[in-house]
Amino acid sequence: MRILAIETSCDDTGVAIVENGTKVLVNLVESQIKLHRPFGGVVPEIASREHIRSIYGLVDKALAEAKLKPKQIDRIAVTYGPGLVGSLLVGLGAGQMLSYLWKKPLQPVNHLAGHLYASVLSGAKFKFPALVLLVSGGHSQLILMKGHGKFQTIGQTRDDAAGEAFDKIAKILGLPYPGGPEIAKLATNAKARTKFLPRPMIDSKDLDFSFSGLKTAVTREVGHHQKVELAYDAEQAIAEVLISKTKQAAKLYKPKQIILAGGVASNQVLRARATAELGEWELVYPNLKYCTDNAAMIGAAAYFLPFQPSVKWYNTDVKSSLEL
Ligand code: KG4
Ligand code: ZN
Repeated sequence: MRILAIETSCDDTGVAIVENGTKVLVNLVESQIKLHRPFGGVVPEIASREHIRSIYGLVDKALAEAKLKPKQIDRIAVTYGPGLVGSLLVGLGAGQMLSYLWKKPLQPVNHLAGHLYASVLSGAKFKFPALVLLVSGGHSQLILMKGHGKFQTIGQTRDDAAGEAFDKIAKILGLPYPGGPEIAKLATNAKARTKFLPRPMIDSKDLDFSFSGLKTAVTREVGHHQKVELAYDAEQAIAEVLISKTKQAAKLYKPKQIILAGGVASNQVLRARATAELGEWELVYPNLKYCTDNAAMIGAAAYFLPFQPSVKWYNTDVKSSLEL
């Protein structure tokens, strides 16, 4: 089963071809970061127009690199949400057109499910029930996965997502977009490693997160601490809260595996903390290149999720605030 997957939910144009859900034949990602950087975040219209500019060239390039013809593709998978409507429309439109022209089934895929399946591309075999910490720019969730496509959200952020917190704190510190990797880079230079920022909701009895207060605390501390110390403790605070809640959830739900997923899962402090704190459980991470947005993870999810033959290219639509 060869799936050609398309991902355009935000500012990365992705096209991949994945065989049997796990073997990546080709994975192309065209990043628009340079274009959005002067604005300090993603500009929806620029993102959509760039997706239009890139998508068909990437489809051709993917086929050429995998040395495949359209007739050797079995299915087309495309992200239909959540994300920016304009961006999603370009990817879905491309998927619909190819589905019609190549006479191949179209499979709409939830972007979050894509993140969740990213680690199967690095050889991971899921064991259920699995506990997933899904942390990206738009989402921070703890998910109990009881089987393929069987997701139950057991905790989530009440305000900003972890990636969003990284991005907003980076902006306060005058660092470029996207902020996560910038904060991580700066933090490695910290000499005075003091803990002065709050760890929001770390002792709350539920499994929810809240990161907007951290941003406010950073604003308050600017001028009292060096930028590098602020970056260091902000990163520590986010990682500490995320892993502490994951541990709480693991004790409660006793999963066979803990899966980290999403752009923030590429953070090394978070990974180190997970290794140190979650040693009782089998830990699964995606390869770094599959943490942030890409189409290979969409191809993986499409393979493992139930396929609905009644869904056709002509009755598919984008859903910007789709949940798992
Ligand atoms: O999953 P993703 O690529 O896109 C969404 O679906 O949102 O995640 C992007 C987010 C951004 O907020 C970015 O700052 C964050 O992931 N991020 C990181 C790192 N790499 C990306 N955050 C912390 N440390 C990193 N190394
Ligand atoms: Zn994403």
